[in-house]
Amino acid sequence: MGKHQVVDMEHIASLIAAQKTLPGALLPILHAIQESAGYIPAESVPVIAQELNLSRAEVHGVISFYHYFRQHPAGRHVVQICRAEACQARGSAALEAHAKTVLGCDFHGTAKDGEFSLEAVYCLGQCACGPAIMINDELHARVSHGKLDRLLQAKRGVS
Ligand code: FES
Repeated sequence: MGKHQVVDMEHIASLIAAQKTLPGALLPILHAIQESAGYIPAESVPVIAQELNLSRAEVHGVISFYHYFRQHPAGRHVVQICRAEACQARGSAALEAHAKTVLGCDFHGTAKDGEFSLEAVYCLGQCACGPAIMINDELHARVSHGKLDRLLQAKRGVS
């Protein structure tokens, strides 16, 4: 999802309209918007609030409570690093620190060049061969600092 993408508020309004009568509609609406736009555009908050008869602060509170919801467009690639126990035992904390330094952003952040967003994940089913990561939908196991660098470099070269 590009950084300069125009927000399609008409489509977002249709997503809200389709779900607003469901019980507990706020979360399904936020999921639908993020799935469609890649994040929750700020412009959608007042519309959601009005349609669900909530305050903007209430809607914003839910968006910020769940780290899953992005408030800004994601980078071109999303890097998820496993922080669960088995990967921790295999050095994922050091890999995390390396990724944060190399990308210049924290978890839930996006590198300045817009290429990569960094996210935490809790178990990718590769516990015996950690540290494990996902880049977009590709799973990688036994990821050393050097391997991460190579994977990022390869992604930078892919349009
Ligand atoms: S703990 Fe990392 S893959 Fe299971």
